[in-house]
This record gives sequence, C-alpha cells and structure tokens, in this order.
Amino acid sequence: MIVSLEIAVELIKSGEVVAIPTETVYGLAADALNIHAVEKTFRLKKRPADNPLIVHICSMDQLNSLSSEISDDAIRLATAYWPGPLTMVFKKRSHIPDMVTAGLNTVAIRLPDHPLTQSLIKQTSPLTAPSANKSGRPSPTKADHVLDDFDGSVPVLDGGPCRIGLESTVIDLTGNIPVILRPGSITADMIFKDTGISVADHAVTVDNLKKSPGTRFSHYKPIASVSWLNHVPTAFDKRSYYIFHSDQFSIQAENVTCYNGDYERLAKNLYDHFRRADHLGYNHILIESMSGIMDSQFTSALTDRISKAIG
Ligand code: TXA
Ligand code: MG
Repeated sequence: MIVSLEIAVELIKSGEVVAIPTETVYGLAADALNIHAVEKTFRLKKRPADNPLIVHICSMDQLNSLSSEISDDAIRLATAYWPGPLTMVFKKRSHIPDMVTAGLNTVAIRLPDHPLTQSLIKQTSPLTAPSANKSGRPSPTKADHVLDDFDGSVPVLDGGPCRIGLESTVIDLTGNIPVILRPGSITADMIFKDTGISVADHAVTVDNLKKSPGTRFSHYKPIASVSWLNHVPTAFDKRSYYIFHSDQFSIQAENVTCYNGDYERLAKNLYDHFRRADHLGYNHILIESMSGIMDSQFTSALTDRISKAIG
C-alpha cells in the first residue's frame, strides 16, 4: 500500500520496512541500527546474507557517526556529488551491525537526492536500503514496480518516477586508490574533471568481486530473455520487444522503442521496459549493441546492467 511520510516515519521507528523513493531507484528501507528491521529486508527480498547493504544518510554528521576514517578525497567527493547517486565505501565503526555489512569491516554509504527520503531519514535514523525488488529482478523505478514485486504487501512512500533510473555509482575508498566497484551515472571521467581525483574504472578483478559481493549475484533479470542485437533485423518478430538507442533508427511499432542517442532517457526507462515487456508477455528483449558507443555518461552503467540481465 502507499503510505504518507508521517506513517513511513512511524513504521521505520517501530522497526518496520518501507519502500522509499530516491533519484536512482526505489529502496527497501529499514533502521540501519535495528538488526530485526534489517533482517526483515533480507527476508522480504530473499537477498543472500553475504550481500551487504548501503546505508542512506542525510548529513555529514551522520557520516561521521558511521565511519571514523573519512579521507580528504571522500570529503571532496561528498562536496561534489552529495546529495546524489554516489555511494562510497568506508572503514566502518564497530556499532554498525555485521548483518548490514555482511561481516565486512567496511560500510557503503550514500546521501540520496530525494526530499521525501531526506525528510524521512532526518526524522528517524540512517537507513539501510537495497533496491526494492525481489532479489535478481530489475530494480524498481516507480512505486507500482514495488507494489508488483511484493503483491502490495510492502508500504511504499511514493515519490514519483525515479529521475535517473539506474543504481548509484559505488566507489571503494578503503584501498590505495579509489576504485569504482559498480558503474553508475557518475563516471571516472566526470570525477576527474570535477574534482581532480583519479579513480580506477570498474574492473571485475577477483579482488573487486571480494570487495563488492553484489557484483557476483544474478541481477536485473526480467522473465523474458535479454540479448544484444548485433545487426538490424530484416523483419521484426512479434514475440520480441526491441530497443534501439543510436540515432540511426527511428522505427515506429508497438514492440519497438527508439532513443535517438538520448542515453539519459534510456537509463531512466530501462527497467520499466524490462517490466513492461514481461507484463505484455514478450519472450525476448533485443537491445541494439552498445559496443563502440563510448561518448555517453550512461553507456558504461547501461552496458553493465544489460550485460547482467543477459548473463
Ligand atoms: O542507487 C542505489 O545505490 C540504490 C538506492 C536504493 O540507493 N541501492 C542499491 O542497493 O542499489 P543494492 O543493495 O541493490 O546494491 C548495493 C551494492 C551491492 O552491489 C553491494 O554488494 C554493494 O553495494 N555494497 C554494499 N556494501 C558494500 C561494502 N561494504 N563494500 C563493497 N560493496 C558494498
Ligand atoms: Mg539491487
């Protein structure tokens, strides 16, 4: 059911779970310091216990309460991008429950850019919030997506459709150099231009897999199979749902969507396409190949999420 901010505050305070809007995707929020509430999120999502959660905060004071090792780089990144779609991994303080961090000595933290959620955190506490989908499913970018995944049983604070539509960039700040563990709409190039900080780009090394357990799991999958489309089809199959993104295509058909190079809009709509294709009973989702397209802020995150939906 949809709930008001006042009810959401009461529910969080009493150890319940509430789905919350952010600028990236909806999250399934619980009081980060209440292990019973956090446990409920794992149970509801059917999330493996070894996949740690992001803690969502509303101020730098809260950051200090969760980590004692906040580097100058972290301060510069927070100043440049918070509130916003950047998650940073810090050494954690010992009072953060092990369940939140899946036993790691680090904690992922972000300050989301949505007024309702900021207000909720201000009135309650730091909140754990994994994406509010059943584990393995596409992340929800609308309140309706959350209601669908949980058959209406999870209370949802409806903040409208998410502005960005892909999950935050995750950067590990606990090693020698900052490393992107999950690409998002804030890229290494952007960070260098905005702050002068060099960040190693998303590299799937054994080390990173250990550091970002989430990257190991099956993710973002609709029921329809997802594939890259490497050449233009001569005919369109009725059971397939097509997405073209380059400016070479402007085809109009019920099962074809063209983005004409607007990657920001594709990012915003990608998971909605996945869910719509399932809802309409398509068997396949075919997406124009992204190899060779390097000029967009969103290409790396889109390629990552689509590849995982395929894999
Ligand atoms: O945009 C987002 O980040 C959304 C919204 C709701 O904030 N949240 C989200 O959460 O995507 P989730 O749980 O679906 O993904 C969290 C990612 C996972 O890949 C997880 O492994 C990683 O962050 N992560 C969490 N804690 C970590 C830690 N201590 N070290 C490394 N990676 C961590
Ligand atoms: Mg997720």
